[in-house]
Amino acid sequence: LKSETEAALAAATDLRAWDAIRVGVLGKSGRLTGLLKELGRLSAEERRERGAALNRLKEELTALVEARRLDLEAAALDARLAAERIDVTLPPRPSATGLIHPISRTMDEMAAIFGAMGFAIAEGPDIENDWLNFSALNIPAHHSAREDMDTFYLPAQTPGGRRPVLRTHTSPVQARSMLGRELPFRVIVPGRTYRADHDATHSPMFHQVEGLVLDRNITLGHLKGCLIDFLRSFFGISDLPVRFRSSYFPFTEPSMEVDIGWNRKTGELGGGGDWLEILGSGMVHPKVLANCGIDPREWQGFAFGMGIERVTMLKHGIPDLRTFYESDIRWLRHYGFNP
Ligand code: PHE
Repeated sequence: LKSETEAALAAATDLRAWDAIRVGVLGKSGRLTGLLKELGRLSAEERRERGAALNRLKEELTALVEARRLDLEAAALDARLAAERIDVTLPPRPSATGLIHPISRTMDEMAAIFGAMGFAIAEGPDIENDWLNFSALNIPAHHSAREDMDTFYLPAQTPGGRRPVLRTHTSPVQARSMLGRELPFRVIVPGRTYRADHDATHSPMFHQVEGLVLDRNITLGHLKGCLIDFLRSFFGISDLPVRFRSSYFPFTEPSMEVDIGWNRKTGELGGGGDWLEILGSGMVHPKVLANCGIDPREWQGFAFGMGIERVTMLKHGIPDLRTFYESDIRWLRHYGFNP
């Protein structure tokens, strides 16, 4: 029985087989247990002798079984360690970090530049009413500017007969700020704007940033200084030529369009001899101040507005407006920014 058990244990390669052998030998109806049970049928003399021998055998078998268990457990642990080992020399999996869209990047840069000049960020809803989008800004009903802006009207009426529109510019937030903020203040307003226009250089949804400064004794000189500083800082060209050209907006008087220098042939910004229109601006019209309950004899201000896509395309050499909204991951990998 001992040599048989030894051979069987050696052949057992896992704990399950080992346990079957243990039960078959030492279990309740195991072979050794059977032999012990037979002792009762022997005489006292024989029983003493055979009993002692069987007890020795039992100890030996128990030792054999126990030793094999330790072997098998050690082997099982080795196998697990080998299987679950971590190879710290493997290269890491590529991490999927997102990139900052150029539009967001431009907004962040503008927030930083104007923030350093003391501007806060203001926001307004994409769905405005025609009073805030037009009337408050001195654009009366039937004024050509309402048609020029290719307005999306929404099919509902708000209280007071005001019609909801998708805002055609960020300028309604000028009125919102004048109505809702303590004077004096400076704000910029980045956000989405909408016009029913779609081609290579127009998108029905695009982004603008508005600026508004209201204080006592604000002059055209403040406007010019602020915008020159901003443009040179934003484009990173310390001697970027900036030109102010007389223009017209219903909500500013005088109004000025602002051009920057570039080279029409190479597209390079700077003193290339040509001019490129970049933003609209002007002194806040006294009627706009009055519409918002502000006394124009005490308070003056300047305002400006520009297209975010446009300045982003110029700054980073992005040729096609439509690619901004296509969500093409290859485009984002090329033009996006690391966070
Ligand atoms: N709202 C004007 C536009 O969309 C830009 C502008 C803003 C002009 C503020 C003057 C002052 O074209």
